[in-house]
Amino acid sequence: MNILVTGAAGYIGSVVTEELIKEGHSVVALDNLGQGHRQAVEPKAVFVQADLVDSEVLDDLFRRYQIEVVMHLAAESLVEHSMTDPGRYFRNNVIYGVNLLDIMLKYGARKLVFSSSAAVYGQPEKIPIEETDQTIPVNPYGESKLIFERILHWYSHAYGLRFISLRYFNAAGATERLGESHDPETHLIPNVLKVALGQQEYIPIFGMDYPTNDGSCIRDYLHVLDIAKAHILALNYLDKSGANKVYNLGCSEGYSVIEVVETARQVTGAKIPTLIHSRRQGDPAVLIASSKLVKSELGWQPMHSHLETIIESDWQWQKNHPYGYKK
Ligand code: UFG
Repeated sequence: MNILVTGAAGYIGSVVTEELIKEGHSVVALDNLGQGHRQAVEPKAVFVQADLVDSEVLDDLFRRYQIEVVMHLAAESLVEHSMTDPGRYFRNNVIYGVNLLDIMLKYGARKLVFSSSAAVYGQPEKIPIEETDQTIPVNPYGESKLIFERILHWYSHAYGLRFISLRYFNAAGATERLGESHDPETHLIPNVLKVALGQQEYIPIFGMDYPTNDGSCIRDYLHVLDIAKAHILALNYLDKSGANKVYNLGCSEGYSVIEVVETARQVTGAKIPTLIHSRRQGDPAVLIASSKLVKSELGWQPMHSHLETIIESDWQWQKNHPYGYKK
């Protein structure tokens, strides 16, 4: 199939692109390189550097490459940043996304896989979180993802768009070629490994007074390859079925920040000093997905998401790329 991947130079988009190409699809990889890395784009994909707001470029690539399906991963995704610059999040994640949908419809492309987030739930009412649970985002990032899901619903109603929205929990891990490299890096696992590499003195633990076993926050980590696999299954499903779907993408297993640090110590053999900080604003105590639906309906099974496997893969990548994609 002819597939457009937006955000294809990003952490998850680059792995999705690589897996789609392995499956024999033709991929146009779109990225504005605001946060993504040109080197991360699979060489067999056609790379286009542009913003989603650039209608002329989008028009041209839909016409030229006869795009049939879109995997929409491009987004602003720093939760804390979204609190101080919400406009940026609503423009990029909502308004420019609508521009993309309108151009899709203009060229008859009616299938979309959307990269959503556990952030749509806000502070969950119960664990594990099910797709039908209440969605009350506690930051503009989560709000922007939820609004776009609602827009997809109404575009489907009005224009026959068909979509699957994947609400990722905590993406982590690396492939041989591709890994996590953000600037600034805010995520726990790559930062823990920076301490193991000696690039950072200690890992701050944001809160040890949560109502959990050891007092630190619990998250549901899943390997980026398992996320990519879910995109392939979503694509096949959209090809066969008419129904729109929203799925949690998590492993239904939670690990505390302390457990992550401890596992990283075992994997790396490094000491990894920690320092207890106050809570980070907006962090829910526990986020664990119910993944029943995605397993039963898409046949998805996480294959690489044991915490040790995740950290081991990221450790290999960080050692080989101590400065990320920078030479
Ligand atoms: N943490 C630390 N120290 C650090 C970094 C993180 O203690 O140096 C803690 C956080 O407080 C949190 C946990 O480790 O409890 C995981 O934090 P991450 O930043 O790795 O991930 P988040 O759970 O905050 O964010 C993820 C996704 C977001 C998404 C969010 C949903 O990365 O895109 O889940 O709430 F919005």
